Amino acid sequence: MMSNNFNQTEKDGLYKAIFSRRDVRSHFTSESIDDEIITRILTAAHHAPSVGFSQPWNFILIKDQETRRKIKESFSLENKKASKLIEDPKKSKYLSLKLEGILESAINLCITYDPTKFGPFVIGRTSIPEAGIYSVCCAVQNLWLAARAEGIGVGWVSILSNQELKKALDLPDHIIPIAYLCLGHVTEFAEKPDLETEGWLSRLQLDDVVYYEKWNEKQNMNWEKIQELIKENLDYA
Ligand SMILES: Cc1cc2nc3c(=O)[nH]c(=O)nc-3n(C[C@H](O)[C@H](O)[C@H](O)COP(=O)(O)O)c2cc1C
Repeated sequence: MMSNNFNQTEKDGLYKAIFSRRDVRSHFTSESIDDEIITRILTAAHHAPSVGFSQPWNFILIKDQETRRKIKESFSLENKKASKLIEDPKKSKYLSLKLEGILESAINLCITYDPTKFGPFVIGRTSIPEAGIYSVCCAVQNLWLAARAEGIGVGWVSILSNQELKKALDLPDHIIPIAYLCLGHVTEFAEKPDLETEGWLSRLQLDDVVYYEKWNEKQNMNWEKIQELIKENLDYA
């Protein structure tokens, strides 16, 4: 039977994957990914939690250059649209950011959501239909972390038209694309998010995002010790 507890080495491994995972756009190499590695990280994704155990995901592996070219075209169009929503100097900064690695990564992967799988009655999805989509996001994160442990970089591209994605990948009407990912070996995993290095945004302190008992409550007697610990900011990053 599997032990209930992680030993220190196992814990260190998990936290290392979490803290050193990056969204990768600029550091892909042309090296291909072993099929065994792809299989392992897909298996990790498939073991994600899902509402009512509905496993509403599918994974579409993409190598074809023509498909990628179409997706890249959609990116370019949507990226231009996005840049029109902001003014200089933010606009020029935005346009200087590298926000995808569609053509230069080893493979692309689209993770989709099928709301009809094991439905329409899915335990836990009756009040919050979005729980289906949340489940697919859990699969994405499992894959992202497993890939990091395997030394594979992952970049999520959401500056895309879902309509164009559906056309390019022959998705049936009821299937919703959730994540379009670029995967590959990398020259490096940056220490910080690219958007932080570029001065776009920085990581908030944990203390900025935790409330106690009620929205916006920053002080609460039941939580004194943890308030102190969080203020000391034990963040690895
Ligand atoms: C739902 C989602 C969509 C994202 N879309 C994009 C994207 O279109 N282009 C991009 O460069 N990064 C994208 N990212 C990556 C984020 O910018 C990145 O996660 C964030 O800046 C923090 O960096 P890190 O992942 O390296 O920690 C996306 C991330 C998520 C979770």
